[in-house]
Amino acid sequence: MRIIMSDSAKEAVSTVATMVFELIGSHPNSVIGLATGKTMEPVYEIWSQLALDNKIPHDKCFFFMLDEYLGLPPGHQGSFRSYIEKRVLAPLKLHANQFAFHPVHAGIDQAASHYEQSLKEAGGVDLQLLGIGTNGHVGFNEPGSSKNSRTRMVELTNETINTNQIDFPNGDMPSKALSMGIETILEAKKLVMLATGQSKADAIKYLLNHHDDPKCPATFLKNHPNFILVLDPEAASKINLKI
Ligand code: GLP
Repeated sequence: MRIIMSDSAKEAVSTVATMVFELIGSHPNSVIGLATGKTMEPVYEIWSQLALDNKIPHDKCFFFMLDEYLGLPPGHQGSFRSYIEKRVLAPLKLHANQFAFHPVHAGIDQAASHYEQSLKEAGGVDLQLLGIGTNGHVGFNEPGSSKNSRTRMVELTNETINTNQIDFPNGDMPSKALSMGIETILEAKKLVMLATGQSKADAIKYLLNHHDDPKCPATFLKNHPNFILVLDPEAASKINLKI
């Protein structure tokens, strides 16, 4: 694992956005795994701006989603698909056929295996963007998830439901989701995790001090040969790195 300590959240966000932008610039056929959440919002803003300013075409790359809620009607504003359509697809002027969204409106078992098959057919993910939950979840791999997990239906913890219900002002926050598994995520060629803000400090401290610990599924990612963790000063405030 490589850790990049930034001087500010802005710098951390910019580092991650630049990694994605540069990969697509040098390898236009790249396959990118997208994460959602508040942490990623400014990444998508900066990446879109860099792409537009530098006129880098994005028409040959392909995108996979990390996870998606189950039980929402198509087009629901709280869905991760809506999030990505608003923050990535529209500003970068991409086409819907450049995205593999979880087929959540099909049968669940079929949806999960169909997604895994699509990943295989695309040749896997080149760069997977990741956030981290305050309880150490990645995607929606909640505490207790196994290292060998693949794309599947997951039950959300109360902590995640409480945190994310801000996106569901009508009180219709789902309790289930479809998520890439830990093993699925580990198959990406490069993992880039971004954590910003004080609310992530405990999860980051736990991540750095534990290995292969199902209580914090993010710890499984430390086995990956190309795992980059980008932190702002607040997220890094409880760790003690001897340099
Ligand atoms: C969400 C998503 C994750 C995300 C995490 C952190 O629920 N399923 O992919 O990384 O939780 O979200 P945030 O960036 O809003 O803290």
